[in-house]
Amino acid sequence: MSQKDIINWDDSSAHVPNMPKARQVKVWDLLVRVTHWTVAAGIIANLFFTEDGGEWHEYVGYTVLGLVVIRLLWGLVGTRYARFTGFFPTPKRLKRHVSDLSVRRVDEQNLGHNPLAALMMLSLWAVTIGLGLTGYLMEAGLFGDKEVLEEIHELLANSLYLLVPLHIIAAIAMSYWQRQNLIKSMITGKKTVTDKPTTMK
Ligand code: HEM
Ligand code: HEM
Repeated sequence: MSQKDIINWDDSSAHVPNMPKARQVKVWDLLVRVTHWTVAAGIIANLFFTEDGGEWHEYVGYTVLGLVVIRLLWGLVGTRYARFTGFFPTPKRLKRHVSDLSVRRVDEQNLGHNPLAALMMLSLWAVTIGLGLTGYLMEAGLFGDKEVLEEIHELLANSLYLLVPLHIIAAIAMSYWQRQNLIKSMITGKKTVTDKPTTMK
């Protein structure tokens, strides 16, 4: 972590003996935050508000697809915590994370997505790309049976009714256990770290 990443010392714990000092670290850059909230808004709009297959549905769907592609490219060349190399859920990382969870330990150095969260992120990106592609193929009529494409599009859209609530519940649960408001972090970009590793609640 470079000095530049450390942006502010929080002195609220300074008077408490043996309490590790807390500081704010910039984790999520602007691109990650803007693509997150616009993709979320676009998906919610297409699930609940736009007319299925209507003009707005297509505009919103393609915008979401474009934003996800930009975010994925950023995963190759972007800032430290945005890069896939930092959070790709390898079996080793998953195993370690699950054992850390079972003893309620949180590795505070692991500031990016935890490996289970990363699995969810990859699923959400894959579903969104699948929706964009099946939507395009349905409309373009280039190849594929239109009815089969519609079925796949519907199946992918329906999977979001499971994945998105699970994602939100996980974000709230991990915020509670880690005593770290992850939702606020996705808005401000900052997370709080202490010098010593902390345990979960
Ligand atoms: C954020 C991405 C998207 C989401 C969440 C989404 C969601 C949905 C949902 C929930 C339906 C109704 C499925 C049903 O119950 O029959 C639907 C239908 C449809 N979508 Fe999308 N969609 C997305 C992107 C797109 C794109 C990019 C296109 C095409 C350009 C598209 C074209 C269509 C069409 C043509 C239908 C009507 C299919 C039919 O007649 O059954 N969608 N979409
Ligand atoms: C359709 C809705 C949503 C989708 C598709 C979605 C998708 C994603 C994706 C792909 C990421 C990874 C971000 C990146 O690395 O660029 C992410 C992270 C995150 N999302 Fe969402 N999200 C949605 C809604 C929400 C909502 C409503 C909340 C909060 C209430 C939320 C909270 C978070 C948090 C806290 C993270 C960061 C988790 C961490 O610190 O590891 N998301 N989401």
